Parts: sequence; structure tokens; C-alpha cells
Amino acid sequence: MATSLIGGLLGNGWAVNRICVADPAPQRRRAITQRFSVTAFADNGNVVENANIIILAVKPQMMKDVLTPLAVPLQQYQPLLISIAAGVRLHSIENWGGGRLPTVRAMPNTPALVGAGASGLYANSAVTDAQREAAESILRAVGTTVWLDDESQLDTVTALSGSGPAYFFYLMEAMQQAGTDLGLEADTARLLTLETALGAARLALQEQESFADLRRRVTSPGGTTESAIAAFDAAGAHDTVIAAVDAARRRSEELAKLLDEL
Ligand SMILES: NC(=O)c1ccc[n+]([C@@H]2O[C@H](COP(=O)([O-])OP(=O)(O)OC[C@H]3O[C@@H](n4cnc5c(N)ncnc54)[C@H](OP(=O)(O)O)[C@@H]3O)[C@@H](O)[C@H]2O)c1
Repeated sequence: MATSLIGGLLGNGWAVNRICVADPAPQRRRAITQRFSVTAFADNGNVVENANIIILAVKPQMMKDVLTPLAVPLQQYQPLLISIAAGVRLHSIENWGGGRLPTVRAMPNTPALVGAGASGLYANSAVTDAQREAAESILRAVGTTVWLDDESQLDTVTALSGSGPAYFFYLMEAMQQAGTDLGLEADTARLLTLETALGAARLALQEQESFADLRRRVTSPGGTTESAIAAFDAAGAHDTVIAAVDAARRRSEELAKLLDEL
């Protein structure tokens, strides 16, 4: 995720000398320096001294160990923190970071790797308007952003767009199999499935109509699509999707509670 953000920022015209990185692993630092020509430190403290915006891109379970030794310099320099760690609540970041800090929590998703991510953002009240704009422009470097009114909505964002790519892969997997079961070559079924997914998303982005209206537009009475939708409905597919997203949201809440107890 960190390398995607660096790539996105450089691609959006950020100067190399505006970005620095800290990672304890020498091979990671070498790889990042070679790929992006940014400065890479072994010690996270060097970043706190050098940056007015810090992106926390470690695994959630690492966050306590990363922030606790930085509490004193963080309180001294008061940088804007942007945490992309799933499930790490603002109050935990405050506890481990030595007190209140301007902090934005962001939940991106894996299409950020190709600049087509979707991120939900939530800022605490210490974040200024200029810092909100800065956080948004950083996440926009890898895709679309939306601001949330309440931190708890990040659990829903995690369930919808965070895990969402996997739902589409699941549907695409089934569609490819249907194509091959019904006589197409696997490569042909894959390509047709992929281009259909991409084309449907692009069409929906361009048109103002609701998803339901777009679907109705390709569902002629008595036609093939109507037969397929009837089969989906008979299997309760619509309600299953809603239940699946809710299951992911509940799991996100449970995982966040476990992180709270670290
Ligand atoms: N991947 C996703 O789709 C996704 C989506 C939304 C949010 N996120 C969040 O993004 C965060 C990063 O995920 P990722 O998939 O990019 O994980 P990742 O590939 O494991 O990246 C984490 C990086 O942090 C480094 N690191 C470990 N300990 C550190 C320390 N003490 N100080 C500084 N750096 C340290 C790791 O180095 P080593 O490899 O050397 O340990 C690694 O380079 C996670 O919190 C995740 O919840 C990910």
C-alpha cells in the first residue's frame, strides 16, 4: 500500500524530495530507494523529524509497537497522521501516540495498486481544513475518496469497498466457470467476463441512472437476461449480498475490538 501511494504521488507530480520513508528492513529500503529515488530511513523517528504529514502504513497489529516509541517526538512536532491500518481506532492511535494528534483514518482498497482505488476517510476534530485537503489529495493519488461523518462508518466502508474487490472476483470466477462449463475456452471466458465487468462499471460511471435502472435497460421482457435475473432472485442472491456485506462489517468491528485490547 505504501509503495502504491508513493507511486501515485510521484505520478501526480509530487517532487521526489517531498517524500521520505522509514522501514526497518534493509532490503525493503533498498528496493524503495531503487524504485522511487526517495530517501529511506531505518529509524521511524527520522521521518517524524522530517515530515509534516506521516502515513502509517504498517500492519494493524504492528501499530502499537511503531507509535509507542514515537510518542514524545509526535507530541512535540504534531504532524498530521494518516493511518491506513484497517481497524485501528483513533483512540488507540491517541493512546499509543502520547495524546491528541491531528489524525485521518483512511480505508483504501487493493485497486489502489493500479490507481483505481476507493478510500473512505474520517478526520478527528484536531485536523484543520488545510490538512483535510492534504490528506484527500494524497489518497486521491491512488483513486477516489469519500469523507465520512462518523468513525464507525469505516467498518461499513471496509465491508463494502475494502473487501468489495473480492466480491466481484467471486462473481467473475463463477461467470468464467459458467462460460467454460457451457463450451467456451477458459481464456475466452475470462476475457469476456473481465471486459464485461469493466464495461459495466464504466457505463454505470458515465450514466446518471441507478444500478437498478441500468439493469432494467438490458433486461427485455421474455429475453435472456430476464431468465438469468429470475434465477438469481429465486436463489435469493440479492439478500445474500446484503447479508454478506453485513457479515464483513460485523467482522471488521470484532477485529477492531481485538486491536483495542493490544
Ligand atoms: N492491502 C490492502 O488491500 C489494504 C487495504 C486497506 C488498508 N490496508 C492497510 O494498509 C496497511 C499496510 O498493508 P500492506 O498490505 O501494504 O502491508 P505490508 O505489505 O506488510 O506493508 C507494511 C510495511 O510496513 C513495514 N514495517 C513493519 N514494521 C515496521 C516498523 N516497525 N516500522 C516501519 N515500517 C515497518 C513492513 O516491512 P517488512 O515487510 O519488512 O516487515 C512493510 O514494508 C495495513 O495496516 C492494512 O490494514 C491494506
